[in-house]
Amino acid sequence: MSARDIKIAPSILSADFARLGEEVRAIDEAGCDWVHVDPMDGHFVPNLSFGPLVVEAVRPVTDKIIDVHLMLSPAAPYLEAFAKAGADIISVHSEADVHLHSSLQAIRRLGKKAGAALNPATPVSALENVINDIDVLLIMSVNPGFGGQKFIPEALDKLAQASALIGSRDIDLEVDGGITADNAADAARAGANVLVAGSAVYKGNDPNTYGPRISAIRSAARSAQ
Ligand code: DX5
Ligand code: ZN
Repeated sequence: MSARDIKIAPSILSADFARLGEEVRAIDEAGCDWVHVDPMDGHFVPNLSFGPLVVEAVRPVTDKIIDVHLMLSPAAPYLEAFAKAGADIISVHSEADVHLHSSLQAIRRLGKKAGAALNPATPVSALENVINDIDVLLIMSVNPGFGGQKFIPEALDKLAQASALIGSRDIDLEVDGGITADNAADAARAGANVLVAGSAVYKGNDPNTYGPRISAIRSAARSAQ
């Protein structure tokens, strides 16, 4: 199989929320591929962020793919609200949902791409029986809840295992947490083609830096393919 196109997905968790619209427009103009959005419930993860209202607010600002990574348990009651708010991809955590298969079906029925996410301690084998029901496989390379954490190196083995499980299927392999221009090549070499980057893009919140930072992560990842 030829290597999938590298996609860079800045996480708006590290954006300046007082200027959220401008911050989303800035990463769009800076050449991002997806806009990564991180709802958190203070229960599945030890932090609270925001809900569908923020997806609805950024939807008119960009035509880029809005990639919603739900850190909610349960997630199922909120899938329709995020779909209606304008998400293109909705990912649910395998650990957060005893009926993962059912939630993935529900996302597809809503006309959206379905993603399944795995925490660092969850083996890739947890997704073996839903591999034909997903469009995105998301490997967490930090424990979810906060931006700005350090990449957990064991994620590289998991990416390689996930890549093998995906095989020739049309599934994006996304890595999320602690990605920088310095480890993007390792992640891409292990098989990741979608790289989430929160602080590595938004740190300092200076829109003049977003373009060069996105390009640096992209070229590092491409060099490894
Ligand atoms: C963490 C979120 C990530 C986070 C990434 O719980 O899922 O998307 O915003 O931030 P960085 O790239 O700073 O680790
Ligand atoms: Zn995320």
